[in-house]
Amino acid sequence: MPKLVHPNTTVSTSRFLEALQGINHTGRPPIWMMRQAGRYLPEYRAIRDEAARHHNGFLTMIQTPELATEVTLQPIRRFGMDAAILFSDILVTASALGCPVRFVEKKGPVFDTPIRSPEALAALRPASDAVPHLQYVMDAIRMLKGVLDVPLIGFAGAPFTVASYMIEGGSSPTLSHIKRMQYNQPDVLHGLLSQLTDVTIAYLKQQVDAGVDALQLFDTWTNHLSVYDAQQLCFPYIQQIITAMKAYTSIPIIVFCKNTGVLWPDLVATGPTAISIDWGCDAVHMRACIPDTLALQGNVDPFLLYADPETIEKRVTRLLNDLGHLPNYIVNLGHGIMPDIPVAHVQTLVNTVKAWGS
Ligand code: CP3
Repeated sequence: MPKLVHPNTTVSTSRFLEALQGINHTGRPPIWMMRQAGRYLPEYRAIRDEAARHHNGFLTMIQTPELATEVTLQPIRRFGMDAAILFSDILVTASALGCPVRFVEKKGPVFDTPIRSPEALAALRPASDAVPHLQYVMDAIRMLKGVLDVPLIGFAGAPFTVASYMIEGGSSPTLSHIKRMQYNQPDVLHGLLSQLTDVTIAYLKQQVDAGVDALQLFDTWTNHLSVYDAQQLCFPYIQQIITAMKAYTSIPIIVFCKNTGVLWPDLVATGPTAISIDWGCDAVHMRACIPDTLALQGNVDPFLLYADPETIEKRVTRLLNDLGHLPNYIVNLGHGIMPDIPVAHVQTLVNTVKAWGS
């Protein structure tokens, strides 16, 4: 695999890590994108088509360190983002607990044995026995650290969002099973959230030991909850994870959730280094609300990338003119990139950020 060369960039002085610490701003903010490695890239689809000849193509990709490494590098090589995110998935912690996930073409993740009873919860592996099942992730991180010269972001799903898939059995427009469980079997739900919290802490510690430079927690489906319910089901567990990680390491922790326009005070209280905001809120308003000591990441509308390059450039320049001068701002999307986005439009977004302020 070729060694990546980005002159003037070493991990210790990276734009991305400096923005997380709010120091040394020079010229422009850093940029990376959620789901930057994925199906919109022809080189990703080539590897995926090859892997599809195996039993479970996407899982083969994330479980084979050479393939996970290659796919992580693809967007860095093509666009030169300021950070790489490990190619994996948030649902690997569920599989490690003994609740296996399959990824089905045009459908997404499927759990054949969803967790809907005390018996199903009791049959899961204890968190301490789960992490050895994720050794392939640590192997990919170590391999990546040998070839990358931008920072590597490790990640995990937050307990509520991972639990939602384990309980629903896959993606769901309403999350009705988890909501039913919240009212009818609260002990099972909180037992699962606790077990996921434990496995997530152990998993993230291992990622730190393997060499990641920053962490991001994804709690995507908070937008299905009232503020009160998010305070019961999401934030106490996120806070436990952040507290445990801060006691273990000084590396930065970013938290992403949806409905940040409403939930930001609770997110701030969980103690992260940075908050990744969705595109439903106004970034300037958010910057004024969230304490300056926290970095802000986001919040380009992922659907803006369907627009023509001129419109993309105009809208992103507006965001940059508003926030690009700040030492602790990171450009990202408000959610993951869609699979049918033209590669040229992603290039326009990256070029716009890189040209700004120079
Ligand atoms: O580039 C990156 O961001 C790193 C890798 C990454 C993936 N998923 C790869 C992936 C990350 C960080 C995730 C996070 C993830 N996975 C989340 C939280 C963030 C978000 O986007 O909301 C969630 C909810 C999942 C669960 C998941 N994984 C779903 C719902 C799906 C199917 C939907 C889809 O887009 O097909 C996946 C599969 C998945 N994870 C793909 C990728 C590139 C598509 C796999 C393929 O078909 O090739």
